[in-house]
Amino acid sequence: MDTFEALYTTRAMRRVKPDPIPEDVVKRILDAAIRAPSPGNAQQWRFVAVMDRNVVGELAALYAASWDQLQKTLYAGKRERAEASGDEVTQRVLSSADWLAANFSQVPMVVLAYVRNDPDGSGIYPAVWNLMLAARAQGVGTTLTTVLHHFAADEVNELIGVPTERGWRNVAAVTCGYPLGNWGVAGRPPVEQVVYVDHWGEPPAWSVPEPLWSY
Ligand SMILES: Cc1cc2nc3c(=O)[nH]c(=O)nc-3n(C[C@H](O)[C@H](O)[C@H](O)COP(=O)(O)O)c2cc1C
Repeated sequence: MDTFEALYTTRAMRRVKPDPIPEDVVKRILDAAIRAPSPGNAQQWRFVAVMDRNVVGELAALYAASWDQLQKTLYAGKRERAEASGDEVTQRVLSSADWLAANFSQVPMVVLAYVRNDPDGSGIYPAVWNLMLAARAQGVGTTLTTVLHHFAADEVNELIGVPTERGWRNVAAVTCGYPLGNWGVAGRPPVEQVVYVDHWGEPPAWSVPEPLWSY
């Protein structure tokens, strides 16, 4: 796959089929993940690829409760505001996130990413993104999720048997599966709205009215 196709179309693919992901595909996804850079090349990461239906089922219950918690706290009123203002993008994200919370137990693989000796956990995000791009290249949809570690970190760690006393902590749970929907280019406001040149607030001389890669 063309690199730019992967970059432009690796979207949050929450609606996935329950079909298992073959082992050779799983290996390619995880081997690509660990090729990523890390601070000082320390590679203070571990990935737990959860495929056992019982364990995914237990994660699903924790995910649903966490999603519920998010809506009662950080996302309080978000749905109502989106409906009132006709914000269809946010409504679509919420409805897709609802689907994931309701169907998490059917997701064939959830990769839990762990770090240690990394104060803000950012050192693992290149690896997580490598994982998601490698999945995309093989037709596997992913979603980077964080609600589990925000609201149920202890429960997840206990379920997985994580040696937290050695500093390991979860910073992401990536759901993986074959898409129910279609791939598409991520819609975003044009780049010139969020890029400055030389000094804060100075816009570039150019603009990009349409994505520079499309089908
Ligand atoms: C750091 C991070 C945390 C996220 N956490 C969640 C999450 O907990 N649950 C979820 O459904 N989506 C989560 N997402 C997915 C975003 O909602 C999604 O990437 C965004 O809405 C853009 O959608 P798109 O990739 O389809 O364009 C997260 C994304 C990022 C980058």
